[in-house]
Amino acid sequence: MPLTGTVATQPTDPASDLSALMDDLIRPELVHRRLYTDAGLFDLEMQRLFGATWSYLAHDSEVPNAGDFVRRRIGRRQVLVVRGRDGQVRGLLNRCTHRGTTLVTEDRGCRKRFTCPYHGWGFELDGRLAGLPVPDSYDRLYERPFDLGQITVAAHRGFLFGTLAAEPIPLADWLGPALPWLDAHIDRHPGGRLTVLPTPIRQEYAGNWKLAWDNAADGLHATFAHRSYNLLGREADTETVLARNPAHTPMISRTLGHGHCVVDQRPGITGSPWDTMRPLPTCSDLAAGLTARSEVDRSLLDLATGNMVNLSLFPNLIFVGNQLMVVEPVAVDRTRLSYYLVLAADAPEEINLMRLRVDEDFISFGTPDDLEMFERVQDGLGIAEEEWIDISRGDGAGDEVDAAGLVTGGISTEAPIRGYLAEWKRLMARPTPMRVRRSRVEAALNRLTKGE
Ligand code: FES
Ligand SMILES: [Fe+2]
Repeated sequence: MPLTGTVATQPTDPASDLSALMDDLIRPELVHRRLYTDAGLFDLEMQRLFGATWSYLAHDSEVPNAGDFVRRRIGRRQVLVVRGRDGQVRGLLNRCTHRGTTLVTEDRGCRKRFTCPYHGWGFELDGRLAGLPVPDSYDRLYERPFDLGQITVAAHRGFLFGTLAAEPIPLADWLGPALPWLDAHIDRHPGGRLTVLPTPIRQEYAGNWKLAWDNAADGLHATFAHRSYNLLGREADTETVLARNPAHTPMISRTLGHGHCVVDQRPGITGSPWDTMRPLPTCSDLAAGLTARSEVDRSLLDLATGNMVNLSLFPNLIFVGNQLMVVEPVAVDRTRLSYYLVLAADAPEEINLMRLRVDEDFISFGTPDDLEMFERVQDGLGIAEEEWIDISRGDGAGDEVDAAGLVTGGISTEAPIRGYLAEWKRLMARPTPMRVRRSRVEAALNRLTKGE
C-alpha cells in the first residue's frame, strides 16, 4: 500500500457515527499521525473510549478499611475508589452535586464522610447526601439527584475496574483470553495475596498516551533503545535476554482480544528469572541470608524479579515486572505514567525488599530510554506532510492467527499494535451509551427488580 493519501478533516461530533473516518485513519497496516497529534480526536477519546470500556482503578489492598479511599482517573473524570461501611468498594465521582467542586484533592486517605469545602455539603461513604446547611431552602430535598454520581465497579481477585457504560459486558468476558494470564500473575504470589504499595512512582512524557501502548509489546526496541541497560547486564555477566539479536529469540507475543496483549519472554531464557538480574544494591546479601535458611527453596528468589511476562490490559494497565503501570492521558501530547509497586503479602521480608530494588532498577536505567523515544516520535509526527505510520511487521510474515482471530507472533511482530487499534477504532466509531449511577436510585431499582 502506498504511503500516500490525505485524510480529510471531518467534524468530531460526540454523537455522530464516525466509522468512515476511522476506516480512513486506521488502515490494515498503516495508522495516520492524527491519532497522536489531533486535539479533537483526543477529546473524543476522553468521551468515547475512557469510560465506555473497563479501566483499571485500584487494587483491593489499597483500601483495606471502611473510609479508605484512593483518587484515580478515567479519562478526565476523577474517581474516588472508596470502601464503604458495608465493606463494598464503590467508584464515586469526585464532583460535588451542588455546583461541581472536587471534594478531595489528596490521592489517598481515610474519611468518615466527604464534606465539600465550598458550601459544606456532606456525603456518606456510599455517596448519599448526608446533610447540607439550610436544608429547608430546597423543596423535596431527597428527591433531587444530589447523591454523588457513581460508576460501575467490578473486581477480579482484588483487581478493581470501573466503567460508565450503561450496560457493560461482564468483566470476565472483557478480560477474555487475558484472564488466565492475569490469574497466573496473581497465583505466583504465595496464597495469591498481593499488597499494592499506596504511593506510586510517577513519570510524565511529552507525547501521546498511545505511544506507551505501541511500546507495550514491542520486543524489538529493547535491543536498540535499551542498549546501555543491556550493557550493564552484559558486564555483570547475567542473562541479558533483551540484548539478543531479535531475529534469533523464541520469545512470543500474543493478542488477547479487546486490545489486550501479552509478551512472554520465558521461552527466551535458559536459566530462571532470577538469573536475568544483574547484582543490585543489597540484593546479594538479602539473597544469601534467605537461602541460608534451611526451610527456604532457592526458586523463591524468582519471586523477587518480574515473571518475564508483560501483560497489557487496554486501555490503561500494563504489568511491567512486579509493577502495575497505569497510563493516564493528560493532553494529546502529554501522558502520565504511574508505577504501583507490588509486594507478595505472604513472602519473606527479604523477597519484598529485593522487589523494591528490582523495581527501581528498570525505571531508573531503562524507562528513560522509552520516554525519550516517545518524545522523539511525537516530535517526528509533527511533520504534517508525512502522514502515515507503518505497523505491518509480522503480518503475513510469521504471525499465526487462530480460529478466534487472536494472533501469535515473534518478538518483533506489530500484531499487538494492530490489535489495540482495532479496539480503539471500534470504541471511537460510535458512542457507547453511558450512565451515572446514584446510591438511592440504585437501591430503588434493586427493590423494583426484586419485586419488593
Ligand atoms: S459546590 Fe459543593 S457545597 Fe457547594
Ligand atoms: Fe522499553
